[in-house]
Amino acid sequence: MRLILLGLPGAGKGTQAKILAKEQGLLHISTGDMFREAAAEGTELGKKAQEFMSAGALVPDEVTIGMLLERIAKPDAAAGLMLDGFPRTIPQAEALDQALAGQGSQIDAVLYIMVPEAELMERLTGRWSCSQCGAIYHTQTKPPKTSGVCDECGGTLTQRADDQPETVKARLDTNRAWTEQLADFYGKQGKLHEIDGTGEPSDITQRLLSALQGVSAGSEKA
Ligand code: AP5
Ligand code: MG
Ligand code: ZN
Repeated sequence: MRLILLGLPGAGKGTQAKILAKEQGLLHISTGDMFREAAAEGTELGKKAQEFMSAGALVPDEVTIGMLLERIAKPDAAAGLMLDGFPRTIPQAEALDQALAGQGSQIDAVLYIMVPEAELMERLTGRWSCSQCGAIYHTQTKPPKTSGVCDECGGTLTQRADDQPETVKARLDTNRAWTEQLADFYGKQGKLHEIDGTGEPSDITQRLLSALQGVSAGSEKA
């Protein structure tokens, strides 16, 4: 199965992708995580990406598409994909369709997690993530048992540099129109599932799983 999680910053893509990928045996790929890892390693790609991320802007398509297509060509991607944060523009979606068609495969479903924007700011400014395993927390809605320490692995929790209120605003402005265009693009392909992204994370997981019940891997849809 090859799935896309679509949603504005803070919609819960990462939170749900980790659960669903495990449950469905899919490879979780987050282009945001890939850029942050590259930035932490100080590679050329990382340095370039960091400039855009700090401004709440998109990393240019020519950089992002190349990196993602390289990743999905690796052997471990054959088991199935849970794409989180890609595609984010129509050219990215088109490049993905084309690359998958070249492998004789396709996207099976796009799960659009919808959350009112007023809630997204609170979610992002209260987020902390594990620097070791990537587990995601929130000061109010999902606090760790010990402040600053990951429940899963004991790693140190850190805040993302782009979760400052001003940058969050810029990220929402950057992504709003593209997200709608992508919903429209996949809606026309008959692959879009709109999911209410408010409420308990476990309820949202159930909604996502129910949406997937009618979806079969590799099914041809017009
Ligand atoms: P990326 O890392 O993908 O950031 P994003 O899209 O802004 O999304 P987030 O990771 O912030 O949110 P999320 O939806 O994963 O929410 P989460 O589960 O963490 O991208 C970062 C940057 O990289 C981009 O700005 C861009 O510069 C660049 N980039 C990446 N991909 C790119 C691409 N394809 N093209 C170009 N540039 C690209 O949850 C958020 C918080 O809410 C957490 O604290 C969580 O605990 C909490 N929460 C989750 N669910 C709930 C719930 N149900 N109720 C209450 N709180 C909840
Ligand atoms: Mg994320
Ligand atoms: Zn951890």
